[in-house]
Amino acid sequence: MKRSKLVVANWKMHLNVHQASLLVNRLDKKIAIYRDVEVVLAPNFICLQPISMELDKRKFRLASQDGYFVDEGSYTGAISFSQLRELVHYSIIGHSERRRYFNESLDVVRDKVAAAVRNNITPILCVGETREERNQKETKQVLHDQIVSALSNLTSEDVENLVIGYEPVWAIGGKEPAKPDTIAQAVSWLRYQIGELYGEKVAKSVRIIYGGSDEPEYVNGIMAIEGVDGLLVGHASLNYVQFADIIERVHHSRVIGNEE
Ligand code: 13P
Repeated sequence: MKRSKLVVANWKMHLNVHQASLLVNRLDKKIAIYRDVEVVLAPNFICLQPISMELDKRKFRLASQDGYFVDEGSYTGAISFSQLRELVHYSIIGHSERRRYFNESLDVVRDKVAAAVRNNITPILCVGETREERNQKETKQVLHDQIVSALSNLTSEDVENLVIGYEPVWAIGGKEPAKPDTIAQAVSWLRYQIGELYGEKVAKSVRIIYGGSDEPEYVNGIMAIEGVDGLLVGHASLNYVQFADIIERVHHSRVIGNEE
């Protein structure tokens, strides 16, 4: 199956409704429609509704940055995937900042992935090792555990449509992404694991994107890596000139998804 290119803007806990709307407006003027690149914006919860009203849906899709795994009930402060289903195509799930600051366990991430799928939302499942885990040579084990656990309640058809974000925790919020070799090894290990669990066809269909200090100058290098289908952009996505530059470079990068 041929995969398509995907770029996700994770705005994290930045921008109020007014600022987010301004950024969408600027992006809209700056970014052309590229049929080979899907562009997804992930604002905070309160911005989703107003932005969905003004968004050019031929150009952009929306993602939430999280969601709760129960569909409805007495859970003060939570927002469920069933409440998000009319609003977003995607949900970022298991971001390392959620795992770290909000104590999200492997089980919680698994339940959120299943809840998103149940509500017809495509999960962008984030996985990645910390600096310490890398130094201890535990990267493969950590990625294995995160993948096996998060996908354990899904069918192979669900997994086929999934997006995985490889985000080494130590590369987030810095000046430079991980080296191409490092990304290549992790991505091929993730595809191998998915192949072992769900078969070759699923492993070739699942989209894997890279996140961690994605800046325009590094896009060509990252997109040249076999198995990488796109980017999960943090701080550079808050700057419309930089983000538009990233999209354009992704558009000009290699044709993906035909690897044998
Ligand atoms: P930065 O691009 O700011 O490193 O953030 C990456 C990220 O966490 C995207 O989800």
